[in-house]
Amino acid sequence: MNVYTDVRKRLLVEPKRWSITGVAGFIGSNLLEHLLKLDQVVLGVDNFSTGKQKNLIEVRNLVSEEQWGRFTFVEGDIRQLPACQEVCKGADYVLHHAALGSVPRSIEDPITSNENNVTGTLNMLVAVRDQKVKRMVYAASSSTYGDHPRLPKIEEEIGRPLSPYAVTKYVNELYADVFARTYGVETIGLRYFNVFGPRQDPDGAYAAVIPKWIAAMIKGETVFINGTGETSRDFCYVENVVQMNLLAATTTAPEAVNQVYNTALNDRTALSELFVKLHRRLLSHYTHLQDFHPVYRDFRKGDVLHSQADIYKAKRLLGYAPTHTIDQGLDAAMEWYMRNVV
Ligand SMILES: NC(=O)c1ccc[n+]([C@@H]2O[C@H](COP(=O)([O-])OP(=O)(O)OC[C@H]3O[C@@H](n4cnc5c(N)ncnc54)[C@H](O)[C@@H]3O)[C@@H](O)[C@H]2O)c1
Repeated sequence: MNVYTDVRKRLLVEPKRWSITGVAGFIGSNLLEHLLKLDQVVLGVDNFSTGKQKNLIEVRNLVSEEQWGRFTFVEGDIRQLPACQEVCKGADYVLHHAALGSVPRSIEDPITSNENNVTGTLNMLVAVRDQKVKRMVYAASSSTYGDHPRLPKIEEEIGRPLSPYAVTKYVNELYADVFARTYGVETIGLRYFNVFGPRQDPDGAYAAVIPKWIAAMIKGETVFINGTGETSRDFCYVENVVQMNLLAATTTAPEAVNQVYNTALNDRTALSELFVKLHRRLLSHYTHLQDFHPVYRDFRKGDVLHSQADIYKAKRLLGYAPTHTIDQGLDAAMEWYMRNVV
């Protein structure tokens, strides 16, 4: 039996108590939805800095009343240690996802990114230690590879960070490692590579490329490609990320713990190809897209040119088996994007 199927079966039989930071965000709310559908008990925290109440309402509508009854929401800020202690109390596992994402945001305001991403994570580690949580799985990032030229990326070889955001995510890994060795705290870091899917915010200056382009196409606004269009990414559907969180939280293999794992597909899609994939899917719904072309502009500061994950480590140590390719993910998410971009 596939490891993920087995994990879900075991959780259904023996539910656990989970805490999710950043639960009103894109990835956090997808974790919430999947855990509630597995009849788990979940406590979530968010300060709504980028997360939305409507994400929680959407999850409520996707689960049964009984499942929703197993969820407790705390409005709070992980920059405050007492809030973190409250979130960790009684939890078996913590899935730490609260952070300020976006490379350009961190370039504009590095101090706020540091407070949320570094101080916030340090507070969570202290609380996980104090409340004797079994394990914290946390959102790391492919930005940690920085300027390292190797493709595909392997966990052991990283370069110099290219943005304040990348520094914050790397510092998370360093703190997690030190907490493991100093206090015996168990952690697993998941280096996400361009995650996409339902509830990813299409609005605002810091929106990710997939929802941003879909929104622009639907509205008939210009789609800008930064650089020549050759820039490539390993786009990863959010259900693969949910799988990695559950595998990481529940693994009993000692060699799998206190590690970081690439979380993606080992695939690479150029931005010009991504444009074609999105355009093709939207064309049958929007006639104004018949003669629609992207506009090329300068490469963006802080971005890496190519990104692709080697996922052998996650397959070997966690039994990771991605369920969605980029095309399957786009097919699954497109209806949501079309319904939610207005
Ligand atoms: N989406 C991606 O492609 C991607 C890639 C690499 C890493 N990550 C990481 O994954 C995590 C989740 O990202 P996402 O895409 O879901 O972003 P998101 O912005 O949708 O979610 C982050 C959530 O954290 C909350 N938050 C931020 N600061 C907080 C604070 N101080 N206290 C409490 N809540 C706070 C926000 O309100 C939001 O709900 C982040 O740590 C991010 O850095 C995401």
